[in-house]
Amino acid sequence: MVAQQYLPPWFSVAPMMEWTNNHFRTLARLISKHAWLYTEMIAAETIIYQSGDLDRFLAFTPEQHPIVLQIGGSNLENLAKATQLARPYGYDEINFNCGCPSPKVAGRGCFGASLMLDADFVAKAMSVIAANSDVPVSVKCRIGVDNHDTYSELCDFIYKVSTESPTRHFVIHSRKAFLKGLSPADNRKIPPLKYEFYYALLRDFPDLRFTINGGINSVDEVNAARNEGAHGVMVGRAAYYIPWETLGHVDTAIYGAPRRYLTRRQVLEQYQKYGDSILGKYGKNKPNVRDVVKPILGLFHAAPRNGLWKRNADAAFQRCVTLKSFFEETLETIPDWVLDKPLEDEASSCVVETFANSKNLLPPPYAKKERENSEQERMYD
Ligand SMILES: Cc1cc2nc3c(=O)[nH]c(=O)nc-3n(C[C@H](O)[C@H](O)[C@H](O)COP(=O)(O)O)c2cc1C
Repeated sequence: MVAQQYLPPWFSVAPMMEWTNNHFRTLARLISKHAWLYTEMIAAETIIYQSGDLDRFLAFTPEQHPIVLQIGGSNLENLAKATQLARPYGYDEINFNCGCPSPKVAGRGCFGASLMLDADFVAKAMSVIAANSDVPVSVKCRIGVDNHDTYSELCDFIYKVSTESPTRHFVIHSRKAFLKGLSPADNRKIPPLKYEFYYALLRDFPDLRFTINGGINSVDEVNAARNEGAHGVMVGRAAYYIPWETLGHVDTAIYGAPRRYLTRRQVLEQYQKYGDSILGKYGKNKPNVRDVVKPILGLFHAAPRNGLWKRNADAAFQRCVTLKSFFEETLETIPDWVLDKPLEDEASSCVVETFANSKNLLPPPYAKKERENSEQERMYD
């Protein structure tokens, strides 16, 4: 199922458009060796129409393994071609986006979350993607869309896609999506989280693998979700906004790896090498210093003088043409002890009850409901 040479995807960093690009993934990998990294969603059409410039969209350094490519689309032929074009890059899994509610994606393009209303198509798409790649395939979806938000509708979707395609892994963003009336950002906070749907899926589809996602913000919460049986946990915004604290504990607290005593200065030294090697690689100012620095702006979250550093950074973007000069100019704002202090031993061990509580709210079993329905039907035969 999962690439054998890597530790399992107990922790993954979510696909986030314009965020989980090569730059952020490089930073994430410097901090955690074992987290699974997802690309931002790349539309099948982008891959096809940019086929002369594919490296810009698909290339990644070997250190980024294990890495999952997320693609989006609603045209089977294009999905097939895009998967073929991506194949030589050697991603470890291909994930299909059925959860993005952006009107650009779900409305006009008719893909993303709106595909949850068309399980037949998703099953076909997954079969096509699997047929054109040599790695496992997975789906990332919501728990429902608009008023199609019952547990049994979610199960119908999972059942259909998993029985009619080779999909064995689903990433469940545990809130529904509204296709109209909410911005993408509001769609990530207003619909309530229903982790009980996720845990019910584990119960009702024991042969499948499910990753839980949505509102999980710390390693404590990741471990709490796993203690309640989650196969894998995906973290999005917390990994981006607070990369040091969120990703820094993953290897030790989740994967049991020995402590590395890593410091932010060491991370930045490595990141600088990457950054300076990539500046201008895809054309004049593509990427530029601002693009490459963007992912590290959360690195000193809550540290002394973080605000001042960010203000200095903003001014330095106008002048600096290399990351080296950018760091020389701005890093003196951050106290040495902040730069040189390894992370604390481990994350605080506060008790997280959220997931245990959600197990008290499980909806009735899917298979049982199906049996009950067919028994009732028999009674009327
Ligand atoms: C800026 C941004 C961009 C996103 N882009 C994608 C995307 O390309 N594909 C996708 O499946 N989800 C996307 N998401 C949703 C995340 O993958 C994740 O499901 C969501 O943020 C909930 O997880 P969190 O609460 O840990 O952030 C995006 C989220 C954010 C904040």
